[in-house]
Amino acid sequence: MQVGLIGLGRMGAGMAQRWHAAGYDVVAYNRTVAKAEALAARGVVTAVNDLKGLVEKLTGPRVVYVMVPAGEVTEDIILGQGGLMELLQAGDVVVDAGNSHYPDSVRRAKIVAQHGIELVDQGTSGGILGATQGYCVMVGGVAAAVALVEPFARSLAMENGYIHAGEVGAGHYVKMIHNGMEYGMMQSLAEGFNLLHEGPYAIDLADLAKTWQHGSILQSLLLEVLTDQLREHGTLEHVSPQVSDSGEGQWTVEEALQRKVPVPAITAALFARYDSRKRGDFAGKVLAAMRLGFGGHTS
Ligand SMILES: NC(=O)c1ccc[n+]([C@@H]2O[C@H](COP(=O)([O-])OP(=O)(O)OC[C@H]3O[C@@H](n4cnc5c(N)ncnc54)[C@H](OP(=O)(O)O)[C@@H]3O)[C@@H](O)[C@H]2O)c1
Repeated sequence: MQVGLIGLGRMGAGMAQRWHAAGYDVVAYNRTVAKAEALAARGVVTAVNDLKGLVEKLTGPRVVYVMVPAGEVTEDIILGQGGLMELLQAGDVVVDAGNSHYPDSVRRAKIVAQHGIELVDQGTSGGILGATQGYCVMVGGVAAAVALVEPFARSLAMENGYIHAGEVGAGHYVKMIHNGMEYGMMQSLAEGFNLLHEGPYAIDLADLAKTWQHGSILQSLLLEVLTDQLREHGTLEHVSPQVSDSGEGQWTVEEALQRKVPVPAITAALFARYDSRKRGDFAGKVLAAMRLGFGGHTS
């Protein structure tokens, strides 16, 4: 079975490898063609030079995954001049697997539907670790389109790590809130480790983090990532304490404001990231180290 993939960055390259391992034929386009060619040389994908080539290589009904930055880049690839909407045919499905804002996905789905093309929005969690251990995959879309996508989505996912969350937009809606929650959990770890770092005992933080992975309620993937970062880098000199955000935390807070649902911990976590860009302390380094460890984020 064939699947199309646009974007071979940290996430897309990992997804291609999982599909290849599952026996799928992955036809891939990447802006920097050399990345696609390098994966093709290892037999992981069939590389194409442009979107037209990608669509021509696939037989219908096509499933084409888009795994690029949210916003303008995703918009252009799906709706822009020479983009997927102009190239695909009725019955084909576009899967936006990046972190798009859910109202954008709902809007794009309505536009492509006028051409008989369905859009499935997929929240994809797991970062660079997902390539080996499997991702958590949350999709939104109409049943017929999701049925076409499901084999690919399930093969990306860790066992039991797949959900059809609801209609179009639901996949990115749950991923947005998932990432908002992630901000809160990471901030809590960062504050605790900052206090330990400043405290009166010369505690080996890597050792403590590792110990907490055994029987403690704090046991988690985030703590595991942090343990590895602390063990490898000690006082985390390798990361800047200025912590970026990629939008989902802000969208979660905006959504909560609109619905008048209190999310004080998530809001505080978002503001702490803004604040870190002016200040920068060990808590910022702890956050940055976790982002580097699970997402490969260097800024
Ligand atoms: N990293 C994570 O932990 C993570 C987790 C879940 C979801 N996501 C989401 O997954 C998506 C991809 O993230 P990533 O971490 O894989 O990003 P990435 O490593 O920065 O890769 C970005 C990909 O998009 C392509 N791209 C960037 N700008 C482009 C443009 N103007 N035109 C065409 N292609 C362009 C890049 O091509 P080049 O190779 O030519 O630069 C590359 O293939 C994003 O929506 C992100 O929010 C990321």
